[in-house]
Amino acid sequence: MTILENHSLKAHHTFGLDVRARYWAQYAGVDELVELLHRFADQPKCFIGEGSNLLFTGDFDGIVLHSAMCRAAALNETDTEVLIEAQSGLKMDELIEQLAAMQLYGLENLSYIPGQVGAAAVQNIGAYGVEVKDCIDSVKTLDLSTFETRIFNCEECQYGYRDSFFKREGKGRYVITAVRFRVSKTPILHLDYGNLHSCLAGIDNPSPEQVRQAVIAIRKQKLPEVDEYGSAGSFFKNPVIAAPLYDTLHAQYPDMPSFVTSNGYKIPAAWLIEQCGWKDKQSGRATVWQQQPLVIVNNGNATAEDILQLAQQITDSVNERFHIQLEREVEYI
Ligand code: EPU
Repeated sequence: MTILENHSLKAHHTFGLDVRARYWAQYAGVDELVELLHRFADQPKCFIGEGSNLLFTGDFDGIVLHSAMCRAAALNETDTEVLIEAQSGLKMDELIEQLAAMQLYGLENLSYIPGQVGAAAVQNIGAYGVEVKDCIDSVKTLDLSTFETRIFNCEECQYGYRDSFFKREGKGRYVITAVRFRVSKTPILHLDYGNLHSCLAGIDNPSPEQVRQAVIAIRKQKLPEVDEYGSAGSFFKNPVIAAPLYDTLHAQYPDMPSFVTSNGYKIPAAWLIEQCGWKDKQSGRATVWQQQPLVIVNNGNATAEDILQLAQQITDSVNERFHIQLEREVEYI
């Protein structure tokens, strides 16, 4: 167990802001976590993984808790599937790399997304037509008031687009300690998103590793490398709008891209932001990423205020022009 006081969080979240926590603690087992919870019972708490989807808006006057539980093991196996349990602190991409090397299908489209297993299951990360919930069998948690283990099956996690029970009612009540993934020994491929299929042209039955490499190549073209530019991936969610607004906008902007979903039309926020002229625009020391305007980057030494202001200006201009209220994907702390 590690406990540090008045600790800089710069290296513990991908925006790389120089903010501080009153306490920062890392636990290597559930027993250590329980000990920390007893010891710091009176402190506000913030659980972080790699900090790749959050923005510290200032110093954190409480304890930031980080899981260093990083093991993964197969629990069960049939002719077609393997049930893997991965602990919360394992990097999602390390898990996916191992699964691809074992020829197991299911999570390869989520390659190269920063973040740890626990946070991935809170956020329901998604990319290239796959969401992590598609492979989640169940989620193991610690009840923060009783210190008992509770296992949630996938349905109980109430997954939605970048959403789950753990972001809403479960927040502050349960912390994820491990996730059980059901992955396939036989090919289950999702290659329909964007140019993924064309990147794999000529390969008849791509292996999980080949899909993984194609996804990594696409992500590297579009998204900033987290160790070069501070960011938190997509800053906003893609909005879903109702038919009347869609019809009005479509008449005005016939080229507007859209995807039909069960509750309306999903419009790429990147397109809305680009139309408002934000690509490569700067506010303070924060910039809208040229190749993917859904991403805000820290130019180096940005403050939370720089990022908050830029995000607000983008939200206001999209609202003014399209009457769409962008919802942020990044969590403010
Ligand atoms: N687009 C533009 N201009 C641009 C870039 C994109 O107009 O400069 C439009 C295009 O119409 C394009 C569409 O946006 O077809 C979609 O772009 P992209 O495929 O890059 O995906 P996205 O919808 O912008 C989502 C996720 C990403 C995920 C990609 C790929 C959200 C909020 N973001 O982005 O997830 O990697 O799809 O599946 O749903 C993240 O959550 O942090 C993240 C990076």
